Amino acid sequence: MLERIEAIRAEAAGAIEGAGSSAELEELRVRYLGRKAELTGVLRGIAELPQEERGQVGGAANRARKELEALLEQRAEALDATELEAQLVTDRIDVTLPGAPPRPVGHPHLIARTTRLIEDTMVGLGYHVAEGPEIEHDYYNFTALNHPPGHPARMLQDTFYVQSHPDVLLRTHTSPMQVRSMEAKPPPIFVVVPGKVYRRDSDATHSPMFHQVEGLAIAAGLTLADLQGTLLAMCRALFGGDRELRLRPHFFPFTEPSVEVDVSCFQCGGRGELAGGERCNLCKGQGWIEILGAGMVDPNVLGFVEPHGYDPEQVQGFAFGIGVERVAMLRHGVPDLRRFFDNDVRMLEQFS
Ligand code: PHE
Repeated sequence: MLERIEAIRAEAAGAIEGAGSSAELEELRVRYLGRKAELTGVLRGIAELPQEERGQVGGAANRARKELEALLEQRAEALDATELEAQLVTDRIDVTLPGAPPRPVGHPHLIARTTRLIEDTMVGLGYHVAEGPEIEHDYYNFTALNHPPGHPARMLQDTFYVQSHPDVLLRTHTSPMQVRSMEAKPPPIFVVVPGKVYRRDSDATHSPMFHQVEGLAIAAGLTLADLQGTLLAMCRALFGGDRELRLRPHFFPFTEPSVEVDVSCFQCGGRGELAGGERCNLCKGQGWIEILGAGMVDPNVLGFVEPHGYDPEQVQGFAFGIGVERVAMLRHGVPDLRRFFDNDVRMLEQFS
């Protein structure tokens, strides 16, 4: 019996050493140590052996089983490692291969690019960029901006209100961020605010959603001349280095005085007529193009943020709001503002 056990052990050990895969190894485990294996049968039959043989046979069979178990484990580890290695080689992914099918690289929308251009210009002048909520409180959009009750902009036909909350609306301009910015930081403050605004308007030059960039500068001693110089720098960056500005008196509830700003026409150079003598179609013969609204921040507005450090006797400043679509249309000769939002790639691809 002892010889038989030794013969099984030797045969099994050899087979395990020679196993070439984990599957083969598993077969050997079943063959030599499984329920129907000869060695298992020997171990199960020990109790029936004569008393004097039990100790020796039992010991030898148990040792053989333990040894084979250990060998199986070793071999399994070795095989696992080589199999993993092989798999890693064959499963290699080439991350440098282009995706299938390769997609053309996109580019920012013209509105995003124009916004960025305005931001970059103002950052160059020392301004910070901030963004604010498009869903706004009546307080920030109107009240704190000195819009008296009954102001037309407050009316239903001009503004989108949230039905269940009569004091909540889609902001009609980026100016609410003047107030929010001043609440957030004491003077001096120099900030530009790009963003979407909403009005009940729709035609070739108006869309219910459009983009503005707001500018706000508050510090001790700022004057209308500072506003003029700042806007001149901005307009020259947008429309060419030899542009001139013209300020016309206007009205906004939150600036005093208020101005509308025209830039000299960059198609006819401000002459109103083209080289051949015909009327300039861009400025309609005027020589000037209306480009934005601005003004000195009304002390009443500062009054709303006085607890945040804005004493109208100590600081003053200016604000402006410029329409991004209008700038983009002028710079690129886009005839209809609605084309920006039609998502027609033939149109969008022209501005890559
Ligand atoms: N918020 C004004 C508008 O949308 C523009 C503006 C901004 C005017 C800042 C003056 C100062 O028409």
